[in-house]
Amino acid sequence: MVSPAIALAFLPLLFTLIIRYRYYFVLFYRAVLVRVVQDFLTGLSREERAFQYVLTHATPGNPDSILDAFDHWCSKVEFISNIGPKKGLVLDRLLRENSPLNVLELGTHCGYSAIRIARSLTIGARLYSVEMDKSNALVAEKAIRLAGFDDDMVELIVSTSEEVIPKLKEEYGVERLDFVFMDHWKRCYLPDLQLLEGSGLLSEGTIILADNVIFPGAPNFLRYVKRSGLYKCHMHRASLEYIRGIKDGMAELIYLGAK
Ligand SMILES: C[S@@+](CC[C@H](N)C(=O)[O-])C[C@H]1O[C@@H](n2cnc3c(N)ncnc32)[C@H](O)[C@@H]1O
Repeated sequence: MVSPAIALAFLPLLFTLIIRYRYYFVLFYRAVLVRVVQDFLTGLSREERAFQYVLTHATPGNPDSILDAFDHWCSKVEFISNIGPKKGLVLDRLLRENSPLNVLELGTHCGYSAIRIARSLTIGARLYSVEMDKSNALVAEKAIRLAGFDDDMVELIVSTSEEVIPKLKEEYGVERLDFVFMDHWKRCYLPDLQLLEGSGLLSEGTIILADNVIFPGAPNFLRYVKRSGLYKCHMHRASLEYIRGIKDGMAELIYLGAK
């Protein structure tokens, strides 16, 4: 048995840890505990619950209202790792300033960032969005079409990035990529960047925006980018989507061309 005196001595340490890591507790509570309970109570996936909320609170054909409904649900109800409204502004600005024609997104999830990208595209531009999870892709497809974007503007590809990247030229007729948004599993960032380099789809000036490079983090990817000499790199520092207090960032890379 631990004596009450020893237990009391540990209380300050416990409080310090709770205060220091409170935002991580909040994240764990909202992303894991609430999700498990709600999955059990509703029999629906978290993504389906989010989409039901969007369906009942957003205006069809209005991408802004669909993004607002997602943002409200993710900040007040449950957590989903969409890029979110704050980091989303960086994505919006880069798209507005560069008017890319061919955009690739790795990691669609519920379609939040795909809608965000599509609403900034110019006429004739196209987004290829890759999602490996079939049930996430089903929700994303419904959300993207609800926002009013058809298959000509946003093509949702249900597969892994590793399988799709080598086929983009021949099967999807993509000649070059102007903008790549990476927001899938962080361990895939580096191998997929190298696949993109080998695919011949990157050309001088192609922008690659990689989310969550600080939290959960992609250290191998950042190390490679800095050492390779193939990219100009700029870090956009921010907090994690929907949880202030956890530091995160997006890496903006500009491809300088093959050496
Ligand atoms: C962080 S979420 C994407 C969020 C989305 N970009 C947004 O901001 O709305 C990551 C998604 O990437 C998908 N994913 C992870 N690794 C993948 C891979 N190698 N290929 C395709 N999809 C992947 C996961 O299934 C998950 O739905």
